[in-house]
Amino acid sequence: MTGIQEALQLQLNKRRCKHTLRTLCIPNKHLIDFASNDYLGLARSQTLKQNWFQACHSYSNGMGSTGSRLLTGNSSLATNLEQAIAAYHGFEAGLLFSNGYMANIGLLSSVTTSQDVIFYDLYSHASIYDGLKLSVSTAFPFRHNDLNHLEKRLQGSKRYSQRFVCVESIYSIDGSIAPLSDIAQLCAQYHANLIVDEAHAIGVIAPQGRGFSALEKLQPFVFAQVCTFGKALGVHGAIVLGSQTVKDYLINFSRSQIYTTALPTKNLTAIKSAYDLLPTLELERQQLQRLIHYFCTFGITDSTSHIQCLPMRDEKTAKKAAQKLATHGFDVRPLLPPTVPKACLRICLHSFNTILEIEQLIKRISSL
Ligand SMILES: Cc1ncc(COP(=O)(O)O)c(C=O)c1O
Repeated sequence: MTGIQEALQLQLNKRRCKHTLRTLCIPNKHLIDFASNDYLGLARSQTLKQNWFQACHSYSNGMGSTGSRLLTGNSSLATNLEQAIAAYHGFEAGLLFSNGYMANIGLLSSVTTSQDVIFYDLYSHASIYDGLKLSVSTAFPFRHNDLNHLEKRLQGSKRYSQRFVCVESIYSIDGSIAPLSDIAQLCAQYHANLIVDEAHAIGVIAPQGRGFSALEKLQPFVFAQVCTFGKALGVHGAIVLGSQTVKDYLINFSRSQIYTTALPTKNLTAIKSAYDLLPTLELERQQLQRLIHYFCTFGITDSTSHIQCLPMRDEKTAKKAAQKLATHGFDVRPLLPPTVPKACLRICLHSFNTILEIEQLIKRISSL
């Protein structure tokens, strides 16, 4: 073995010993889904698939977009879709990205200067952390959902040119919900620019699934909002929403927008078809809320959202628990460090789950 191969194996072995080795998942469609981000069942929806097929036929573009949006990859489909999605969520403008990861790194790495500061919640998603690593500004975490800590940070930030606060409306790692109105108020008080990642709220929260900022009418206080389409929308891609100035700025300075091939027509029509269905899914949203409410009556987790996290003693226990649940027909995944600080089982609830499935799952969990 060459030196580099040995060095890589050493790192893999370290993870193996700590039971944190990552592997690609083995797809198993026979299990009951308590793991995917397909919260409203759109990824499996035949209606969405059929609408998408029809939409694809009505656009003459070929398979690929052929280049960056700034060169040959733009289309009226993309610009109209951006305008429609921005209006849907109550923003002036929007800019599509290939996915949420690219949106967060493209946004966070470009909008700040070395004279600025960003305060971010400690529980932020990896894409936010990676965006901050690429940014030239100073970045400080504040304790998860801790408004006092955030305010202290803001109080001590007078020497910076611009202040930014970055939060998720629903946190991917434990399903906790941000006190968004209070955070927006603090941002207004301290002249900070609020960035909200709504990846797990879009589609699920508020009438027509418009998300938390829309529910709490906070759009005027939000500098930029990230929405992703690979979760409740059931497709793929993302958008950054904000003012026309933010959009123009990102087109000029966001490297994950500029130096990449644009989303092709087949993805754009999938996003459009999913958004066209979103207002019609009120029953699914209500059913999901009922299931969340029922799940919470068992009191086994702290979350009140469709993402529930059950703390586990350690990595090995978490992995074994997930395997055992799979033998009983349930797809539940362990989240392990370094993705999360402490091993847990992550249970995602969907509108297509049933009360009976939840009861059976809880029964199995209590006998782990
Ligand atoms: C909060 C949050 N932001 C961004 C992303 C990245 O989105 P995408 O999967 O579209 O890259 C995720 C994905 O898990 C997420 O949970």
